[in-house]
Amino acid sequence: MAYFEWADDLEIDQGPIDQDHRKLVAQVNELHTATAMGRGQEIVGRLLEELEGETVEHIRREEAFLAKIGYPESAEHHQGHERFLGDLRQLRRRFDEGGITVAAQLSQLLRDWLSIHIRRNDRSVRDFLQAQGRQRAPRGMR
Ligand SMILES: [Fe+2]
Ligand SMILES: [Fe+2]
Repeated sequence: MAYFEWADDLEIDQGPIDQDHRKLVAQVNELHTATAMGRGQEIVGRLLEELEGETVEHIRREEAFLAKIGYPESAEHHQGHERFLGDLRQLRRRFDEGGITVAAQLSQLLRDWLSIHIRRNDRSVRDFLQAQGRQRAPRGMR
């Protein structure tokens, strides 16, 4: 069974933003599986590299979306993005310097990113859209 399951309450735009978030869920699960087999350290370098590039892209996409819909708390939201990116880069440096606990730290960082940022802060974006009647409620909330 997957470590972190995608759930309808994670849906934001039923489009590219959700696709990015789904990919992240897959990466969290990949890291978890590798760690459970004692191979987290083997994939963490590649994963960090992927995540850094994809996160830059995701943030660009998501912030353009926030601007397009006139989301009122985009400055605070942006700060959360910058913090995460900074944390990712710091882990990459630690890994490059030979850090041996980076897989566990990355796992923790991604778990927080999913459960705090995506599940709460990104979710507020969907709540904003719904309040404006611009998006249908996801299954189970209609
Ligand atoms: Fe996001
Ligand atoms: Fe976000």
